[in-house]
Amino acid sequence: MADDHAGAHIELIDNGPLRYRRGRVGERQGALLRPDRTEIEARENVLLCRCGASDRKPFCDNTHVGIGFTSEKKWKPGAGSMIDHVGERVTIHDNRALCAHVEYCVEDLPNVFDRSKRPWVNPDGASAEEIIALCRKCPSGALSCTVDGVLYRDYADRPPAVIATREGPYYLEGYVEVPGEPFSQGHSQEHCTLCRCGESRNKPLCDGKHWDVGFVDREE
Ligand code: FES
Repeated sequence: MADDHAGAHIELIDNGPLRYRRGRVGERQGALLRPDRTEIEARENVLLCRCGASDRKPFCDNTHVGIGFTSEKKWKPGAGSMIDHVGERVTIHDNRALCAHVEYCVEDLPNVFDRSKRPWVNPDGASAEEIIALCRKCPSGALSCTVDGVLYRDYADRPPAVIATREGPYYLEGYVEVPGEPFSQGHSQEHCTLCRCGESRNKPLCDGKHWDVGFVDREE
């Protein structure tokens, strides 16, 4: 599937930024977007900050050199396993090692996703259609589902884009290719979330650490 969307991809520069090669116009060029999905003007090939300290976010301004940023992954490569929560019609697949803790799941479907319960996922707590919609909304790919034998995880109808979210990670969608995938069991090739606060222990993926460190986005 990724070949159908050739062009947009991310290069992970050791101890430095993300090089976003958006691809040429006419080859499904990848977009760079703000949280409200308006376009950020950018060259075909741009360096995106992932140390969290640039004054030109989302672009790199070389501050990473002075602060000694390290892109080292603290977690074991490929850490995390997929747990299946099997319901009457829906099976929800969950890999906590992919989660960016954006919280759409607990906010939108509290009868399905309830952290005070064990297991925390009840696949019969909402309609199949609601769960399918929620899994599509999950930006990290930690959540996906199978309904009537169909896996809802990778979506062919989203154009390639990198979204620099407010005070949060980069959302990648539409098959922006990242080398080194799969990062964990069940990792989506179509969408994921990449760290941009510089503090994730699971780089290049976001692990929600931006909440703990109070990451501030100073773009604009
Ligand atoms: S990665 Fe270069 S300034 Fe953040």
